[in-house]
Amino acid sequence: MSRRSADAPTDQLGRPMGSLRLSVTDRCNMRCRYCMPEEEYRWLPRASILTFEELARLTAVFAALGAGKVRLTGGEPLLRHDLPELVRKLAAVDGVRDLALTTNGILLGARAAELRAAGLGRVTVSLDTLRPERMAEFARSDRHADVLSGVAAAASAGFDSVKLNSVVIRGYNDDEILPLLAFARAQGVELRYIEYMDVGGATRWSPDQVVSQRDILAVIEAVHGPAEPLPARAAAPAERFRLADGTVFGVIASTTAPFCRDCDRSRLTADGTWYLCLYATDGINLRDVMRGGATDVELTALIRDRWGRRTDRGAEQRLAVPERGVLYQVETLRADPRREMHTRGG
Ligand code: GTP
Ligand code: 5AD
Ligand code: SF4
Repeated sequence: MSRRSADAPTDQLGRPMGSLRLSVTDRCNMRCRYCMPEEEYRWLPRASILTFEELARLTAVFAALGAGKVRLTGGEPLLRHDLPELVRKLAAVDGVRDLALTTNGILLGARAAELRAAGLGRVTVSLDTLRPERMAEFARSDRHADVLSGVAAAASAGFDSVKLNSVVIRGYNDDEILPLLAFARAQGVELRYIEYMDVGGATRWSPDQVVSQRDILAVIEAVHGPAEPLPARAAAPAERFRLADGTVFGVIASTTAPFCRDCDRSRLTADGTWYLCLYATDGINLRDVMRGGATDVELTALIRDRWGRRTDRGAEQRLAVPERGVLYQVETLRADPRREMHTRGG
């Protein structure tokens, strides 16, 4: 039911609007080292957080402009009170053709069936290790068993697809490339390996910890034989492969092989700030525009105009930096928490 209008906007690189990532809360119940390594965080003020009605309204405006592929992210989206109610509202929005959730899985076990019934189509669970003690050390959470129950609940809830995301980090979990693949296969879900990215929040990032797509494939092919590349879906970040035994997996090579050329993503923080790139320094405050009384026509005109001027290709620009190091120091992130990956929606 795509309702992309004939005059849907394209940006300066000819990229249409296609997907909208809604961060529904900046809070998280994990502290993954690659995302939230600090002891303390400054949260977005409660009064600034968009209501479900405001989220549904903005989603309708974006969807009518072409961004009908909607993904709920966080922080941890299941920390938002009554997420299934939001799913119900968004599933009913005209033009929303795909509704997905990215979660750390801790609270998924109890919610999977309800989310499915509410109209959620796809789920991705982040799972970086099969070892509880590693998760305790690396993500400061002792709820590994809950994550595994969440994966199992999602796998049997009848979603159109369930995926696992594993960020691979040298010296942390690069010895689990094969076990994670075997686990995903046994669960009947698709695994995607993700290169460690130097996004805002990754204040411990360094190039030597990045395990590249090429390294990941080498480990897999040494044991399973050639991985056959599958045809790419337009604007999808993952390159997908199939092994001789039929196992399909993906690799998201945002660090060594960015996909900016095809990027059709918009992202909204929980307080309604619109970012046109994961790496963008500044966003546009749609909350104040909306709360100031703008009509849908006015919101549409603003979004269309700004998208039409978009030139962002943040990951490609990072790739061109000669001595690539941490993107933002902690002080910069404290001054503007929206530069954090967990606020911007990973
Ligand atoms: P589908 O392809 O629709 O299933 O979802 P997705 O892969 O876009 O969503 P997911 O939330 O699973 O994101 C997976 C990974 O892609 C993230 O962990 C990031 O590493 C990376 N990623 C997500 N959004 C962006 C983006 O806007 N730019 C870049 N460069 N990488 C992104
Ligand atoms: N590099 C790569 N992926 C990251 N994510 C969070 N921080 C990083 C990073 N520095 C991922 C999470 C989750 C997704 C939403 O974003 O693992 O799967
Ligand atoms: Fe899109 Fe920016 Fe990510 Fe590139 S870095 S893929 S332009 S969001």
